[in-house]
Amino acid sequence: MSIIKIGLIGAGSIGVRHIMAIDALSDVALVAIGDPSPAAQKIGTERSIPVFADADKMLSAGGIDAVIIATPTERHHQDVMAALRHKVTVLVEKPITATLAEAQEITKFAAQQNCHVLVGHQRRYYPCAAEARTIIQSGQIGTLLGVTGQWTTKKDDDYYAPEWRRDVKAGPILTNLIHEFDLLRFICGDITSVSAELTRHDQNFDKEDAVAISLKFANQAVGTFFLSDRTPSPWTWEMALGESERFPKTGQNAIRFMGSKGALEFPNLVLWTYPEGTGDWRNETKPQPIETPFIDAYIAQCTHLCAVVRGEETPIIDAENGAKSLAATLAAATSAETGNRITLG
Ligand SMILES: NC(=O)c1ccc[n+]([C@@H]2O[C@H](COP(=O)([O-])OP(=O)(O)OC[C@H]3O[C@@H](n4cnc5c(N)ncnc54)[C@H](O)[C@@H]3O)[C@@H](O)[C@H]2O)c1
Repeated sequence: MSIIKIGLIGAGSIGVRHIMAIDALSDVALVAIGDPSPAAQKIGTERSIPVFADADKMLSAGGIDAVIIATPTERHHQDVMAALRHKVTVLVEKPITATLAEAQEITKFAAQQNCHVLVGHQRRYYPCAAEARTIIQSGQIGTLLGVTGQWTTKKDDDYYAPEWRRDVKAGPILTNLIHEFDLLRFICGDITSVSAELTRHDQNFDKEDAVAISLKFANQAVGTFFLSDRTPSPWTWEMALGESERFPKTGQNAIRFMGSKGALEFPNLVLWTYPEGTGDWRNETKPQPIETPFIDAYIAQCTHLCAVVRGEETPIIDAENGAKSLAATLAAATSAETGNRITLG
């Protein structure tokens, strides 16, 4: 099998995480970096690979099958468009772009160039996410009526030291919520309307301290989500799974799906069904834990990227799909500021 040659655009904190995934696989190689920073130059020197000042220069040099784009979000549009002009497969970090108009332009141009764009929503690659999707979509808990979830933690004080981190653009809605919404969309289907209330009465910065969100899905199910970066608690996806060193593992589930015949806890799957009776409140139920392997999602994502380059798979999340997660997230921010319920097309 031929080696897939990857160019990395943006070798900062998450870019380095992608390099670790590439290094763990035998059929893929990092062949170039596009990043003007001295840190990126050091990585290139250590690996004896060329480092270019930007995406365009790297792509013009040729010899690349796919790029991973991990530049600051404001640059995603420009860097993805540069990669598409060179007709390579793209994996761009989340969010796909800063604005919906940019995401739509990418979707259109990718189709014109006959290229695939994947969006880096790595949670979709965990077996527990795929299993939850199967359980919900196959009707194992009956008709899905609702979901309730939370992401509640307290970021460290140093996190807010840079002034830009106190701005609305760096708040938990625009930084963290997109992962939750993308996961809910993956498992439950599209989100059709969003309304939200926020508060800032703890830190009094421009960014929100907490937000409560109501959702409706295309399948008529409803949902609620509570998100805060000021509430120490054991309930986040990362703490539930032990996904990141930054979040010590608690194993506590953060999301619950409720159907007409039972319920599902997530991401450490626990199925609650009613084998006898109709499942009314008089019937007994027992928890049924469902084990799924814990994997490195970045390795799974990179493996999938290679399969897409080889034409063996189509993107698990393409530009159009990534744009829908962005749209739902931007809708939560807009609704929280304006007080209006936002309907999504
Ligand atoms: N999937 C996830 O869970 C996750 C986690 C963290 C960050 N991200 C996303 O990844 C992206 C990068 O975040 P980060 O935390 O790694 O940021 P970072 O600041 O650590 O890294 C950004 C890198 O881009 C480089 N860069 C800046 N301008 C450039 C240019 N013109 N051309 C090429 N390179 C350039 C910088 O030198 C830096 O090395 C953001 O979009 C962020 O939302 C995703």
